[in-house]
Amino acid sequence: MTTLSTATLALASGTAIPQFGLGVWQSPQGAATRDAVTAALELGYRHVDTARVYRNERDVGAAILSSGVPRADVFVTTKLWNDDQGYDQALRAFDASLERLGLDYVDLYLIHWPVAGKRLESWRALERIFADRRARAIGVSNFLVPHLEELLAHAKVVPHVDQIELTPFLQRRDTRALCAKHGIVVEAYSPLTRGARLADPVVAKVARALGKTPAQILLRWGIQHRHVVLPKSTHHERIAENGAVFDFEIDPAAMARLDGLEAGLTTGWDPATQA
Ligand SMILES: NC(=O)c1ccc[n+]([C@@H]2O[C@H](COP(=O)([O-])OP(=O)(O)OC[C@H]3O[C@@H](n4cnc5c(N)ncnc54)[C@H](OP(=O)(O)O)[C@@H]3O)[C@@H](O)[C@H]2O)c1
Repeated sequence: MTTLSTATLALASGTAIPQFGLGVWQSPQGAATRDAVTAALELGYRHVDTARVYRNERDVGAAILSSGVPRADVFVTTKLWNDDQGYDQALRAFDASLERLGLDYVDLYLIHWPVAGKRLESWRALERIFADRRARAIGVSNFLVPHLEELLAHAKVVPHVDQIELTPFLQRRDTRALCAKHGIVVEAYSPLTRGARLADPVVAKVARALGKTPAQILLRWGIQHRHVVLPKSTHHERIAENGAVFDFEIDPAAMARLDGLEAGLTTGWDPATQA
């Protein structure tokens, strides 16, 4: 595929993150995940987003290592699960993730969810892992403004990334503004609304005008807002379709129409419910 870009964003860690990656939540253990990652790498993807709780770290690592793509050219993210939060537990969980991945470092390690009473201790562990260079960048996920403000008041290292659900239907403008102020790169998870709004008439109209699919419009909207976008698919045609979002642009008027779709739509868990 010629249209998949290797566009990157700079992280405050000093490393760079590919703006486009493959998500593997609900990508089944075994051949399905290995095939999806292999296909994505063949198509030019250079970024995979997994997590301990997805139960497919082994498959992600195996596919990367057997792909022929140099390790240094693939950006690998995994995440600390809620049951593993706390300082010592987080250090142990990180070791176990590395072991399952078969890697000696990850490019990004994230706290998956802002578990109350544990998240600050977990962050200290991530700071240690970062200092040891076993994660080349560290960050959080599902942290909204109150969680970030608390963390920023205690952290030695400002998170490099916040991964949140982000689509035209859920724009989290206050969180994005706070991230911009502190140089935190925003990653958009569930960027396809997990399918829930692919038939939206405004998205469909923009797609028709550009000769693109609704999925491509949702992904391109995130790219133009300078988010990292992480669509998941286990189907080769869709992995290719989702990657083909760097050869066109949504014009400002159509971007404004998409920006007008805010609806507070969460398709999974909602961190606004977490104190
Ligand atoms: N940090 C967090 O708490 C968190 C939460 C959720 C997700 N994530 C990350 O974000 C990634 C993506 O989010 P997600 O998996 O929730 O949802 P998503 O990427 O918005 O949507 C995935 C769904 O859309 C389908 N799909 C993919 N491409 C399509 C296309 N071109 N046309 C039509 N349907 C298409 C997929 O089906 P097929 O696979 O059958 O093609 C799957 O059912 C995850 O895999 C994970 O890495 C993180």
